[in-house]
Amino acid sequence: MLDGIRSCADAGSVNCPCVLVSCGRCPVCSRFAGKSCNDCSWQGICIYNEFLQNGAAAEIQRKSRLCSIQKKIWYEEDLAVMRLEVPRGFAEKASMPGSCVFVRAEEDPEYFDMPVSVMRADYENSVIELAVKDCGPKSRKLLEADRNILLRGIYSNGLLGVDKLISGGRKSVLCLAKGVGIAPVSNYCRWAGRRDEIEIVADIDKVNRFFVEDCLDGCCLKKLRYDKLQIGDMMGATSDYEVIVICASDFYQQNIMLPPEKAVYSNNFTMCCGEGICGACVCTGEDGEEHRMCKCRKK
Ligand code: FES
Repeated sequence: MLDGIRSCADAGSVNCPCVLVSCGRCPVCSRFAGKSCNDCSWQGICIYNEFLQNGAAAEIQRKSRLCSIQKKIWYEEDLAVMRLEVPRGFAEKASMPGSCVFVRAEEDPEYFDMPVSVMRADYENSVIELAVKDCGPKSRKLLEADRNILLRGIYSNGLLGVDKLISGGRKSVLCLAKGVGIAPVSNYCRWAGRRDEIEIVADIDKVNRFFVEDCLDGCCLKKLRYDKLQIGDMMGATSDYEVIVICASDFYQQNIMLPPEKAVYSNNFTMCCGEGICGACVCTGEDGEEHRMCKCRKK
């Protein structure tokens, strides 16, 4: 799962160079690590040069903004979809596959921020929708919010390996989704429109069919099947697909064997800041290197 880590989800974006450069921890630019340009394999606009032209300052980082809750739809007593009013440009960026945001109730302190995948982004109406399941104090407090919430984003690393979905032309894609894992799948399906041939296996354990149906409403699918996700070797069973997306817990990600070159995983790493600062998401790869999985882009 940690193989093929490369680059940074924010590299070359409006959020680059970020505050990591001043700590010498930019995962991309060799100059900030005290090495030479020859050690750099980044193929985009030179981050070091951008930093200098920016007056040797990092770009302004994402800040929490107050958003009003337009609607909250309950599917279970611990599961709701929140529809939030956001600026049109924000909704447009949120429509990209793998988009996620950090949210908390208006009255809660910053350490209640929790990452949530974007389920739907409607930029014509300037709204986004988030599926929230009560699974701890942060989500419980978030679900109690009635009028406003604080929202920070957009972050683009909700799906590890998302480039396989975004790049290239029409492809056949199998999505394996369990529970609220259907939310990032539905955002991808809407972005893909009719471009990709998409089949979904939805395991509705801990959610229900109404939730999945609403989630996928308007998506153009080749097939939707409700079934339990089966652990085991799926190398052969998935040979007809070019990309396989799995949005499920670590247990399923580790025990469903998929061809690594085709697999896209929901980013299940524990995240707190999302900016590569706090270290909550640090993971050591087989190469012995530490990776901050809120930032690391996977091939
Ligand atoms: S979530 Fe803080 S470093 Fe990744």
